[in-house]
Amino acid sequence: MTVFDRVWTEANLCTMDPRGGDPLGVIEDGLVAAQEGRIAWVGPRAAFRGEARETTRLGGAWIIPGLIDCHTHLVFAGDRAREFELRLEGASYEEIAKGGGGILSTVRATRAAEQDALVAAALPRLDALLAEGVTTVEVKSGYGLDAATEARMLRAARRLPALRRVEVVTSLLAAHAVPEEYAGRRADYARHVAEEILPSVAAEGLADAVDAFTDSAIGFTPEETEAVFRAARAAGLPVKLHADQLRDDGGAALAARHGALSADHIEYANAEGIAAMAQAGTVGVLLPGAFYFIRETRRPDVAAMRGAGLRMALATDLNPGSSPAPSLLLMLNMGCTLFRLTVAEALLGVTRHAAAALGLPDRGVLAPGLRCDLSVFAISRPAELAYWIGRNPCIGRIVGGA
Ligand code: NIG
Ligand code: FE
Repeated sequence: MTVFDRVWTEANLCTMDPRGGDPLGVIEDGLVAAQEGRIAWVGPRAAFRGEARETTRLGGAWIIPGLIDCHTHLVFAGDRAREFELRLEGASYEEIAKGGGGILSTVRATRAAEQDALVAAALPRLDALLAEGVTTVEVKSGYGLDAATEARMLRAARRLPALRRVEVVTSLLAAHAVPEEYAGRRADYARHVAEEILPSVAAEGLADAVDAFTDSAIGFTPEETEAVFRAARAAGLPVKLHADQLRDDGGAALAARHGALSADHIEYANAEGIAAMAQAGTVGVLLPGAFYFIRETRRPDVAAMRGAGLRMALATDLNPGSSPAPSLLLMLNMGCTLFRLTVAEALLGVTRHAAAALGLPDRGVLAPGLRCDLSVFAISRPAELAYWIGRNPCIGRIVGGA
């Protein structure tokens, strides 16, 4: 008889494996067995034949694949609470950005911070995500906007798995805003990103992907974005995009054209762009925290996304300006209440589809051979994960079988 390293039993499972017709792949009274950090067996407890060196009985709790937050700006210095007050007095997110505040105020604070300070500032935010069952988190740069600080942010992100049990994936977002020293020379800065910052970060192996912010008013033009994407391709890195967040700049179609892993925000994405994304396999990452916090009124066209068969993910967009919200469970709730996702869509969005948004086929589903990343919740049905507001039923987290 096979002897497994460890089993978790007397649990209900959301495998997120769609075979069988149920999108959540629910198995009641199930069992998961792990061997060398991987899932070795998943199924109904009664069908299990094997032994284990260690057995954990979960008393009817629910196991779902370790949650994946596929879009965060976790590493930054300072905060933007003052800007929040200004917005309460009537200023808009865009006006503040145009006045040199917004992203640029976080850039000033981040440039002044050493790597240790960036790590120390990120840890409490990371801990909040982990407490809710997150096992993989994507972290972007984008508050450095110069080669040294972008690299320092990414090194800070790469330090986190040595300090906490978590998997970290990084994205270079040097094309996030135009830094002060390039004021009025946006195209020059975009060229600097493509020709200098990106190749040096790639050579050091600091980034797993390249991201950009396409926005005709406060980000980069489609042409500038494409130059950055070509440099990413030359460096062998996949791309993703902050697209159509504040207006329709054709970002969804642009992302699809470049075979992007994901296009994120996409409140203003048009139907053709959405169809192109579905065709290209580009995941649509919905960010209800930013939608809520900047009081956006245009909702992403979820009906068109569903109709096109687009895979939708959900993430926190955790950042100091538009989504100071270190809670992926809150995003499940907001995804359902604000964007009218079904519970199954929301849960796929933080597991299987979030893994796809990061290009990680080894996680996001409970299936033999995949990483043994699990989140355990004391709930009576999966819908509770999206139902509670500000209540955390997570009682356990397994990363790589431990
Ligand atoms: O994802 N859209 C631009 N970037 C961030 C906001 C960053 C900030 O305001 O600091 C976002 O919403
Ligand atoms: Fe973002």
